[in-house]
Amino acid sequence: MEKRNILITGGAGFIGSHVVRLFVHKYPNYNIYNLDKLTYAGNLANLKDIETKPNYHFIKEDICNFESILNIFKTCNIDGVIHLAAESHVDRSIKDPFTFASTNVLGTLSLLQAAKNTWQNFEDKLFYHISTDEVYGALKMDNPTGGDEPGGGPYGGEFFTENTKYDPHSPYSASKASSDHFVRAFYDTYGLPTVISNCSNNYGPYQFPEKLIPLFINNIRHGKPLPVYGKGENVRDWLFVEDHARAIDIIFHKGKKGETYNIGGFNEWKNIDLIKQLIKTTDELLGNPLHHSDSLIQYVTDRQGHDLRYAIDSNKLKRELGWQPSLQFEQGLKITVQWYLDNQDWLDNVVSGQYLDYYRDMYGNR
Ligand code: NAD
Ligand code: TYD
Repeated sequence: MEKRNILITGGAGFIGSHVVRLFVHKYPNYNIYNLDKLTYAGNLANLKDIETKPNYHFIKEDICNFESILNIFKTCNIDGVIHLAAESHVDRSIKDPFTFASTNVLGTLSLLQAAKNTWQNFEDKLFYHISTDEVYGALKMDNPTGGDEPGGGPYGGEFFTENTKYDPHSPYSASKASSDHFVRAFYDTYGLPTVISNCSNNYGPYQFPEKLIPLFINNIRHGKPLPVYGKGENVRDWLFVEDHARAIDIIFHKGKKGETYNIGGFNEWKNIDLIKQLIKTTDELLGNPLHHSDSLIQYVTDRQGHDLRYAIDSNKLKRELGWQPSLQFEQGLKITVQWYLDNQDWLDNVVSGQYLDYYRDMYGNR
């Protein structure tokens, strides 16, 4: 099997940890360099099970630190990049947009420039940038009440395709859109071999409990309120994180340079329907009576600039590279809830911030 040196940025985060785990197991001949700054969202406990594997290497670094990044490209002889490191939470971006511009835009630029400066030729090299469907803005719904069955796109209206015009609304999506533009500019201007994928909302194990699904599971567990923004009518298209990691593997190895691939579950849920399903599943697994936690729902002030609907058309990826989601949502949700209930120590450590102290002692202050 071919030997490669792959730099995965943001590997201590939610999606990154699944990608690192998949690559470390599946490609023993690849050296996997997980480069992560370990912000509040980075937690090396996410990778405990693979940290001693001989092909896994951790580097604590900030992607914005260009000189260090350049040095890492040279000394580790990096020939492929899967770039996931980012500030990723919309609510934080509304409070502190500067950090998002810095990491998501300048950090991406620093990686692109390091790749361009280091790679003598572009043969067998790839810079793969992981992006989001949020760059496309918000979709309307032809049928806002939905069908009888939530999930599967009952709301009608268009889907995001690879040709949808960029129209980001939050500081988070604006920073991701800007980074996508830089990636395309490096392909067009310098011929840097790049590929981009834009994925819908992910869920699954190891997601930081500031995002809807793990936050609500934790709150149900503790009988705490579930803050539903606005009327809970916004629609998201949910994909199990391991299906995303599998798509990333396929695109990294088979994707066409210069192309964009949309990744999504064809699995649209109105927030309030999803929350009810989540309550039902969590109550069931906790052994509570049906509807036990319904009263925890609290409608709160809506998020500023809250995008109404995201829905991805991932037919190109299916048609050209043969990928499709493997899990039904109800099944994925059950696996996810069970994982958080089985891993309460992980959840408690993250919520209390204990993991920060632990890794700060080990790797120094961030
Ligand atoms: P996350 O917030 O869980 O993890 C981000 C990781 O990046 C953390 O480990 C953090 O320490 C690291 N990081 C942040 N700033 C850094 C810096 N300056 N230098 C080095 N490392 C840094 O994010 P996630 O949800 O796993 O998302 C990963 C990527 O996938 C992001 O680029 C995000 O935009 C994209 N994405 C996420 C979703 C989703 O639903 N979570 C959907 C589509 C696309
Ligand atoms: P989130 O998980 O933050 O992902 P994103 O904003 O990237 O889609 O939120 C998912 C949806 O859930 C979004 O429409 C906002 C909503 N939401 C709530 O209603 N309450 C909450 O406490 C959170 C975190 C999100």
